[in-house]
Amino acid sequence: MRALIAGNWKMNGLRADAAERFAAFRERAAAATPPCDVLICPPAPLIADAAAALAGSGLLWGGQDCHAEDKGAFTGDVAAPLLADLGCSHVIVGHSERRGGHGESDTVISAKAAAAHRAGLVAIVCLGESAEERAQGRAAAVVASQLAGSLPPSADGANTVVAYEPIWAIGTGNTATPADVAEIHGLLRDELESRLGEAGTAVRLLYGGSVNAANAHELLRVPHVNGALVGGASLKPGDFWTIVEAAPH
Ligand code: 13P
Repeated sequence: MRALIAGNWKMNGLRADAAERFAAFRERAAAATPPCDVLICPPAPLIADAAAALAGSGLLWGGQDCHAEDKGAFTGDVAAPLLADLGCSHVIVGHSERRGGHGESDTVISAKAAAAHRAGLVAIVCLGESAEERAQGRAAAVVASQLAGSLPPSADGANTVVAYEPIWAIGTGNTATPADVAEIHGLLRDELESRLGEAGTAVRLLYGGSVNAANAHELLRVPHVNGALVGGASLKPGDFWTIVEAAPH
């Protein structure tokens, strides 16, 4: 399976910073075709800039969230059809910063993923346990339950990516060990296969949480890791590109 390396910029950077990064990525992609699919998810107001800067580069751009409805009176929210109209290929849904910071439940996230599918987007459905849940030995159960509740009936191997991002590993420098990642990704693969059958083998499974230029090579070779969702390191073009080039060929 071809890997996907996705950069989630979160709420970082101004327009000029984004322009510099887009140009740097474009230059690198032109110099040598990346060994994987590369996706950039900038803040929503910069998606049109991404479309203009990255068109024809082979690089992909996407949203960090979308609403469950296609349109309407939802102040401040972003509609999946608008993301598609801006040339996005993917949208992240259910990031822990939305689950935690915005109180989004599995049900809401499933509805958002369904909206992404209706718009023709690939939904990157995020899940992951807290430090407390892991300490209580409940990591596997929590992740399995989030997966069961967050995938809509429309999910298939082509329109859905699942990202395992343990909350305690996000932005902390505490990467999960390869053994922890292997355990959870193996479980996710089994659950996906039992739910979707053959299609479950095609869903890409990303690991996220303090992925950086130094640890990417090892993490990207853990069984059932089909790519990475990168936060902080995706803001540094050199580091992000090192991660891209670490993807198995
Ligand atoms: P960091 O790579 O900064 O830990 O963030 C991970 C993440 O949340 C990506 O969505």
